[in-house]
Amino acid sequence: MTASDVQLPENATELLEYCGVAERDRREMLAARPDPEKHPEWWVLTSALATNLEQNLEKPLPSTGHRAWPVVPESSTQVGMYAWAWALLSGLPRLLEVHARRGVPEAVTRATVGALGGVMGSHREIYGRSGVGLMPLWGPPLRFRGADYEIGRHSFTRTHLGLGDGVSGHLLMIHVPPIGPLDPTVSEQSITAAAQFFPQWYPNEPIYGFVCPSWLLDPQLAEYLPAESNILTFQRRFTILPLLPPSTPYEGDHELMRLALQLAPPEGPLTADDLARVPQDTTLQRAFVSHLSSGRHFHLRTGIRLTSH
Ligand SMILES: CC(C)(COP(=O)(O)OP(=O)(O)OC[C@H]1O[C@@H](n2cnc3c(N)ncnc32)[C@H](O)[C@@H]1OP(=O)(O)O)[C@@H](O)C(=O)NCCC(=O)NCCS
Repeated sequence: MTASDVQLPENATELLEYCGVAERDRREMLAARPDPEKHPEWWVLTSALATNLEQNLEKPLPSTGHRAWPVVPESSTQVGMYAWAWALLSGLPRLLEVHARRGVPEAVTRATVGALGGVMGSHREIYGRSGVGLMPLWGPPLRFRGADYEIGRHSFTRTHLGLGDGVSGHLLMIHVPPIGPLDPTVSEQSITAAAQFFPQWYPNEPIYGFVCPSWLLDPQLAEYLPAESNILTFQRRFTILPLLPPSTPYEGDHELMRLALQLAPPEGPLTADDLARVPQDTTLQRAFVSHLSSGRHFHLRTGIRLTSH
């Protein structure tokens, strides 16, 4: 497929409803449909991302990871703000065929693509604007290329286990979408269901275990949260791998701020003004401000747990 071959779906309204996109977002996105003549730059970029989705269809996430789609400039028009959502939507008919062929239950398919509606809601909440463009889209492209499935409380990315000489096995990377509390029973049910479903859908990918890279697994949280909190209960289900040097000292702070506190992080280190923006209603919000005020940082940590064989 080349950029000029990219087709945006004609039945977009119906597909957006299927993806749980709220009425207001549907209306705005339909009015911001990129057009090769009127918006040539956005068309080329949208087409490139749509092509990338198709080229990676059903490929597991390599152990080298993948980058979030680039964020668009704040000055972008509505077409730019919604362009990446159009790229995702263009791949939906193909994705639905994949799910049907693999025998994925309808409820899993709907929940999986419902991330599109979810991302638009978070975007409005965090950035005060409609669209998806200001949010670094890491998970949604994986969902729309058949690498990530939402099953109950968690979504799971099919990924490679690399042990220094190519692919040595297969893992599922666990994510915690922002869809309510992390109830331990519901979380474990989701993990058990994934361990049953994936070998049926992808019999050539025997699952060795689960990994979770997240701010949730930072052991420093135990200094602030009660031992019986959902977050610390979740932490105890994993062996936490040693801390790697972060790409910047505030990488984990930014993640926690954006993903958990739903606040737009600054470009660089957090200032006293940034901390003053954080509401102080919950233990996590207070922990965030107190930890950073004392000159420390939160970190993304990776946890692993093996499946029983
Ligand atoms: C992960 C998540 C579901 C955990 O929420 P939870 O089940 O309420 O967690 P806990 O019970 O352990 O919470 C402990 C404390 O932290 C607070 N807390 C937890 N998550 C919070 C959040 N996102 N924002 C503000 N406070 C939060 C709780 O309110 C509680 O404080 P309180 O007793 O004073 O009310 C929640 O943080 C969330 O939805 N995050 C967004 C998604 C995310 O970050 N996923 C991980 C991506 S890598």
